[in-house]
This record gives sequence, C-alpha cells and structure tokens, in this order.
Amino acid sequence: MMKIILVGYMGSGKSTIGKELSKIVGIPFYDLDKIIEETEKESVKNIFKKKGEIYFRKIESILFRNFVNNNESFILALGGGTPCYANNHEILQQNSVQSFYLKGSVGTLANRLLKEKENRPLIANLTEAELEDYIKKHLFDRSYYYLQSKEVISIDAKNVEAIIKELQERLT
Ligand code: S3P
Repeated sequence: MMKIILVGYMGSGKSTIGKELSKIVGIPFYDLDKIIEETEKESVKNIFKKKGEIYFRKIESILFRNFVNNNESFILALGGGTPCYANNHEILQQNSVQSFYLKGSVGTLANRLLKEKENRPLIANLTEAELEDYIKKHLFDRSYYYLQSKEVISIDAKNVEAIIKELQERLT
C-alpha cells in the first residue's frame, strides 16, 4: 500500500511531478482537480463562476476524503487550497499516508503563474504587479497547513528529475 499525496501552492508542479513519479514507481496518478471536474462535469473555473468558492471547497473536501479512504495505492496531487479547509490537513498526517509539500518561494511561484493563471479563478484577474503580493500573503496564510505534510521538498532552481530523485529517496 502506498498513498502518496502531493501538496503545494498553485504552480508548484504537483501534477507534473506526480505524473513523472507515477511512471517511475508504477503507481497510478490522480489529480484532485480532475476528479472534481469529472464528478461535477464542469471545469474548476466554471464551478467557481457558477456555484462559488464555498461550494467548490465543500465538494473538494468530500472527494478528497472519499478518495484517500477508498483507494489503496496512488499518487494524488491536491489543489493548492485542499489542505487549508475542513481540517483536511489532518489527513496529511495519517499513518498510511506519505505526504510531500513541494515548497516554492514567492519568486519561483509568481514567475510560473504569470503564464498560467487564466484557468485559476483565484488569480486569473490579477495584474502582474498584484500577483507577487497576492502570493506572498496567501502563502503566508497557507504555510501552516502545507507544513503539516510529513516531508518538505524545496523546488526552487531544481528540475523535475532532481525533485523526483529527492522525493524517491524519502519514500518509505
Ligand atoms: C486552488 C488551486 C487550484 C484549484 C483551484 C483553487 C487554490 O489547483 O484547486 O483553482 O485554492 O490554490 P492547482 O493548485 O492545481 O492550481
């Protein structure tokens, strides 16, 4: 049994790392945002737009908990906000779970998100000037939850291979 959960801010590479790791360790990869979209038959962007963030957080928490309880071996990339609501961070500490926080600095995340903010409703409307400030505050708020992960891996100035190597070394 291997329940691997990847935690981190938007743009930290949870899905990219998860997919690559899946090929190497031979455990299936899942993306919580995709699970939400398949269940709701709607994009994350549209769920936020039509039903609002509170609804999204409710569905996100329910699907996260169901998934972890009902699957044996997986690599699961969470959404950036998943651990920060409904006591979801407690799941990161469960005995059967190996949780990894992919930790990026504000600079690294801002650089990456500048190019990929359109489908992320929380930041889609921010200007370049606003983005870095927003991330700084948001990351400050969220770090407590992210740090409930069992392992922390810094992603700054590292390529995918280097991050995967570090992660693999810490797998038990
Ligand atoms: C969110 C992150 C997104 C997605 C939603 C909200 C957040 O996932 O769940 O837009 O609150 O940080 P990614 O971290 O995969 O972008």
